[in-house]
Amino acid sequence: MTKLSSNKNNSEIILELKDVVKSYNSGGTVFTAIKGANLQIKKGEFVSITGPSGSGKSTLMHIIGLLDNPTSGQVLLEGKDISKLQEHQLANLRNKTLGFVFQQFNLLPKTSALENVTLPLIYSDIPSSKRNDLGIEMLTKVNLLDKLKNTPAQLSGGQQQRVAIARALINNPKIILADEPTGNLDSKSGDEIMEFFHHLNKDEGRTIVFVTHDPDLAKQATRMIVIKDGRIC
Ligand SMILES: Nc1ncnc2c1ncn2[C@@H]1O[C@H](COP(=O)(O)OP(=O)(O)O)[C@@H](O)[C@H]1O
Ligand SMILES: [Mg+2]
Repeated sequence: MTKLSSNKNNSEIILELKDVVKSYNSGGTVFTAIKGANLQIKKGEFVSITGPSGSGKSTLMHIIGLLDNPTSGQVLLEGKDISKLQEHQLANLRNKTLGFVFQQFNLLPKTSALENVTLPLIYSDIPSSKRNDLGIEMLTKVNLLDKLKNTPAQLSGGQQQRVAIARALINNPKIILADEPTGNLDSKSGDEIMEFFHHLNKDEGRTIVFVTHDPDLAKQATRMIVIKDGRIC
């Protein structure tokens, strides 16, 4: 009985860091941005990460999101040690499991909302008509059906971030990672983004990890992680 329940708990861990260190070597000087991080995130958690500027939040998010490799330590996604995967397997896992949202939206400027949203499908086998249907479905979810053809410059900051969220959702990821997603938005647009994250978490069961400077937003999470000087407190 005890064994079963402990197995069940283990299987609920979707993302794990073990003794993760990340050092940067710039011009012969080594700077350690993450100094031994241990972290377990369970499926369905809604986690906030806060900490002073330069404390290592984005570095940690890049490692969690498989966008950067740790200098040492292990990253496990759904129990798989990602260092054991080949590049194409890693890209596949990243595409299917993780969706990213950035502070600066990172949309292609001369490209319509619909094309921005369908961009992650460009290397998939999905035919282009189906890609567009999926893109329209995602933009409908974020309430932007009337802006399919607009370029980022024709959208407000809040709308651009919603396009970025639709893009992050197009592969139906289990985990959404958001690095200061409301950092460039007014508080009303920021609140809308947070509400949408709550919906993705509560109603769709997605695991959310987000970085914020705003203590009120951080408190909305089911777990708050604080990072200072490269260490999880
Ligand atoms: N590519 C890089 N090369 C060298 N140093 C870096 C690099 N990226 C980040 N750093 C340094 O690592 C530290 C943490 O940065 P970052 O993770 O961006 O912090 P935060 O997101 O908390 O503001 C900072 O001191 C930053 O200057
Ligand atoms: Mg940062």
